[in-house]
Amino acid sequence: MAESARRSRVAPLVLLVLALLLTTVLYAVISTTAQADTSPESTSDIAQGEKLFQANCSTCHGATAEGTDIGPSLIGVGAASVHFQVSTGRMPMAAYVAQAPAKPAVFGEEETKQLAAFVASLGAGPAIPSEEMVDPTLGNAANGMLLYRTNCAMCHNAVGAGGALSEGKFAPDLYGTTPTQMYEAMLTGPQAMPVFNEASITSEEKRDIISYLTEQREVSPGGINMGSLGPVGEGFWIWVLGIGGLIGLAVWVGAKSS
Ligand code: HEC
Ligand code: HEC
Repeated sequence: MAESARRSRVAPLVLLVLALLLTTVLYAVISTTAQADTSPESTSDIAQGEKLFQANCSTCHGATAEGTDIGPSLIGVGAASVHFQVSTGRMPMAAYVAQAPAKPAVFGEEETKQLAAFVASLGAGPAIPSEEMVDPTLGNAANGMLLYRTNCAMCHNAVGAGGALSEGKFAPDLYGTTPTQMYEAMLTGPQAMPVFNEASITSEEKRDIISYLTEQREVSPGGINMGSLGPVGEGFWIWVLGIGGLIGLAVWVGAKSS
């Protein structure tokens, strides 16, 4: 009799702990970000890119990308800027707002590179970085952290969580951005973000920053990799094990004294 009473008292607690565990696992699955594939840039696609441009971009940027009242001139912005804007879904802009939001990309990698090749053919500008230039495993994450803290944290927050700026603008979080997009953002300085050219942050230092930002997603700051759950996931574990343990203890003490 006492045995079954105790079991029914414990059952809801077991369910609670299981629910907390499930939340943690779901969070980890949902926060896993897709990586874009980065095949080498093709410059033979200018004609194809021009067609895409006329159909999707010229109403705001002009037939030869010279700019209109709505959109700025794209002559000389370079392939990197087009690749960044189109692959993050900022362009084509859907409606005029203070800051074009990132959204699911309209074009695939192939078409994005064709658009970039067309714009690059109109005037020299920064190119799309090679895979080696953005490879996080080749960078020095510790140095990247120092560079990030002095150059980026004031807008994007110490751990890349993002933050508000003035006039309805904001610095986005950096958790879903690919290494290529990180490099391109530094190179082209979208919107309120400054341009970090070779003189302010060298290409090797940019890779260090990329290394730091990608490592942040994989390893918790405590140094223990808890299934790549990251800081929030780790918090959940402390919650599950800590609170779960306390509840278990309370039940045990209660059962002992009765
Ligand atoms: C509805 C209008 C609109 C359409 C359509 C549009 N753009 Fe834009 N674009 C803008 C505006 C406005 C800006 C500047 C503000 C901003 O960056 O948010 C901009 C900025 C850009 C920039 C950044 C320029 C720089 O200085 O680095 C690029 C690159 C770009 N657009 C490419 C494209 C491409 C490629 C397409 C077509 C696939 C496209 N845009 C479609 C309005 C538009
Ligand atoms: C003055 C504030 C400011 C600073 C400093 C700054 N950024 Fe940004 N950053 C922004 C803003 C604003 C945007 C969004 C631009 C847009 O939406 O067009 C942005 C966008 C980005 C993006 C694109 C994210 C996405 O969701 O597509 C990356 C990556 C990025 N920044 C990295 C960096 C790094 C790395 C540094 C330091 C080297 C840095 N930023 C410094 C304001 C800043």
